Amino acid sequence: MRLVNAGHILKKARKEGYGIGQFNINNLEWTRAILEVAQEKQSPVILGVSEGAAKYMTGFKTVVGMVENMIEALDITVPVAIHLDHGSYEGAKNAIAAGFSSVMFDGSHYDIKENLQKTTEIVDYAHMYGISVEAEVGSIGGEEDGVTGTGEVADPEECRQIAALGVDFLAAGIGNIHGPYPEDWKGLDMGVLKEVGETTDRIPLVLHGGTGIPDDQVSEAVSYGVSKINVNTEKQLVFTQAIRDYIEAGKDKESKGFDPRKILKPGVEAIKDVVREKMDLFGSTNKA
Ligand code: G3H
Ligand code: ZN
Repeated sequence: MRLVNAGHILKKARKEGYGIGQFNINNLEWTRAILEVAQEKQSPVILGVSEGAAKYMTGFKTVVGMVENMIEALDITVPVAIHLDHGSYEGAKNAIAAGFSSVMFDGSHYDIKENLQKTTEIVDYAHMYGISVEAEVGSIGGEEDGVTGTGEVADPEECRQIAALGVDFLAAGIGNIHGPYPEDWKGLDMGVLKEVGETTDRIPLVLHGGTGIPDDQVSEAVSYGVSKINVNTEKQLVFTQAIRDYIEAGKDKESKGFDPRKILKPGVEAIKDVVREKMDLFGSTNKA
């Protein structure tokens, strides 16, 4: 199965009223775990790669090569997209050149005029190669691999303008945050989400900061047009905790317990459980 344009699978999800997970990767073990669960769940899947994660894995081409060869080696038949997460202008172009099947150009830190201009250029360039494009309006709070935002809520009119450029899906800041959420978090601004859904000609919407959003708000957001939900921090937390537990239980002292494949395994299994749960919650199970 070749890599797919994320716009195609998200449009189907938007039409049929379910969400698809974007699960960020940063190494071989995570990538394999997510692909195996997607196949097991018969769910389409979007592998999110930030520029920082791509650098850590030695570059966009390494990531594409790893994913494409894993798809073949693991006999993955469900739709898989590799998506640049929170891409810069240059990063988006380089990811496309390296073989990514989808890119986010995160122009939310520019003023709307420059965001419109740069987004237009990326859309034209990406669509020349059949690659899908995600844009962002408003900003997602918190920090994700060096990309920070204050979490201001998107202006539906600005969302309409960006959507009109032909982007394939749109991340509108609605009070969502990357990473842990504050105790006094007010929840998602469903009013703005509904308005954005109505003013952007029903293009698939994206919910960043999936880790800390309560399940009922995720499901409600899907009903208002969210078709991609991004999850990263939760996987980092369970991965690390599972390995810490393994070592604190002294398992690394058992015969060959110090083998890195054995030490990472509890973390990998913990991530698989998160991915299974999210695919069921988002409604993408058996939608391949
Ligand atoms: O871009 C990636 C996602 O927005 C991750 O958000 O780490 O809060 O799950 P999260
Ligand atoms: Zn994000």
